[in-house]
Amino acid sequence: GTINRLEAENAVLSQGVVESNHAGFSGTGFVNTVNAVGPYVEWTVNATQAGTATLTFGFANGTTANRPVDVTLNGALVRDELAFNGTGAWTTYSTVTATVTLVAGENKIRATATTANGAANLDYLDI
Ligand code: GCU
Repeated sequence: GTINRLEAENAVLSQGVVESNHAGFSGTGFVNTVNAVGPYVEWTVNATQAGTATLTFGFANGTTANRPVDVTLNGALVRDELAFNGTGAWTTYSTVTATVTLVAGENKIRATATTANGAANLDYLDI
């Protein structure tokens, strides 16, 4: 189906700020979360019908440490510690995917950092 790009800079943020100092991002910037457990980016996706969908998260991680996130859908955990591995530089963007089952109507997809390093710099969600 059609891919919709939902920029992280337009999502709901907890303990994250929009920045644009590392070129290569989509849209007008990316989200830099606090380096802690718990910051999140939450996107709202309205689906006309229930069914499987592939989530593609665009990100950069200029460190060598994985920065996993828990992915929840309407509050339910759908991916535990989804890996966001190092991309080699903060200006090198990559993607990670997860297949989920959407509900008809509103789907709140939240990516929450699970380590003290916080999340990677999150750029967008394609769905
Ligand atoms: C650096 C980098 C940020 C990044 C941060 C981090 O400060 O410039 O874009 O978010 O490291 O480690 O999270």
